[in-house]
Amino acid sequence: MTSHAWSSHNSAGMKNLVLSLFPGADLLGRGFDSAGFVVVRGPDTLLGQDVRAWSVTQVCHAFEGIIGGPPCQDFSRARRRPPTGHGRAMLEEFRRLVTEADPDWWLLENVPGVPDVHIPGYVTQRFNLFASEFGLRQKRNRSFQFGSRDGCKLVLLRGTQSQSLKPAALASTSGHRTFADFCELQGLPRSFTLQGLSRRAKYRAVGNGVPVPMSAAIAKAIAARSHITADIRLCACDCGRPVTGRQVSATAACRKRLERRRSHGGGRVTIGESRTARPAPTISPARPPQLLGTPHRTAQTIV
Ligand SMILES: C[S@@+](CC[C@H](N)C(=O)[O-])C[C@H]1O[C@@H](n2cnc3c(N)ncnc32)[C@H](O)[C@@H]1O
Ligand SMILES: [Zn+2]
Repeated sequence: MTSHAWSSHNSAGMKNLVLSLFPGADLLGRGFDSAGFVVVRGPDTLLGQDVRAWSVTQVCHAFEGIIGGPPCQDFSRARRRPPTGHGRAMLEEFRRLVTEADPDWWLLENVPGVPDVHIPGYVTQRFNLFASEFGLRQKRNRSFQFGSRDGCKLVLLRGTQSQSLKPAALASTSGHRTFADFCELQGLPRSFTLQGLSRRAKYRAVGNGVPVPMSAAIAKAIAARSHITADIRLCACDCGRPVTGRQVSATAACRKRLERRRSHGGGRVTIGESRTARPAPTISPARPPQLLGTPHRTAQTIV
């Protein structure tokens, strides 16, 4: 994952332009910045903006990729209250904006309990990453779904998980750490600050973010993917680890994951149509945004 070929141009002639949705403090986007992408930040309620009032039909094809971490509280295991529906509504907003902008690829970040998100025209790879695989001393795992038009999967050079870890730097468990320590655990510089936000809002924004080295590793894998995937075989569980010889899965955990999927079909809620590569939908800029996505499935597959 060292060489980047900046070969992808959009119709406006710009390269590597990425739209970051639900950016918050945009730790996710900062990893892409560091890997050489040019990141444009979308609206966030943190700044008084609502994604539902936003459309990108005017800049269809301007972005190579769209990244985003919609709110995860509804899908979190730590949730104490019943889901509000906001989580699903924001996943639908993500789908709507991807459909409008029609990028080459998209990356959705959330907690492991998030539904599978399918967007017509994209092949999806789903995997979880642990912060400690990227040198961070905290117990935190994030779930990613990567969709691409060309179906080229990400090769992820993953580290081993460290044993002696601190609790995750979450928005809800921040109080006892200094802000500098909190930022460091998320891979930000200790001097990082967010001007104009209250102390609580700063902790919340950083705690809600994707650890920056994790995001940078994915960004590098996205930049490198068309070069290194041709002669590399990947683990069947979609974790991005290369396999060799007659190997099907990379680790014992991958084997268990595959067995679980075989015995109860993954057991996940799905949003959108089920997927195989399909031609891109025709998008009419005149159509209202709410008509562009595939309607919600009412029958959910929960095992
Ligand atoms: C999980 S955080 C995103 C973290 C970010 N990806 C990062 O790595 O730093 C989710 C963000 O969605 C924003 N959000 C929630 N509802 C929204 C809405 N209706 N419109 C825009 N942003 C919204 C929240 O303010 C929050 O910043
Ligand atoms: Zn695997």
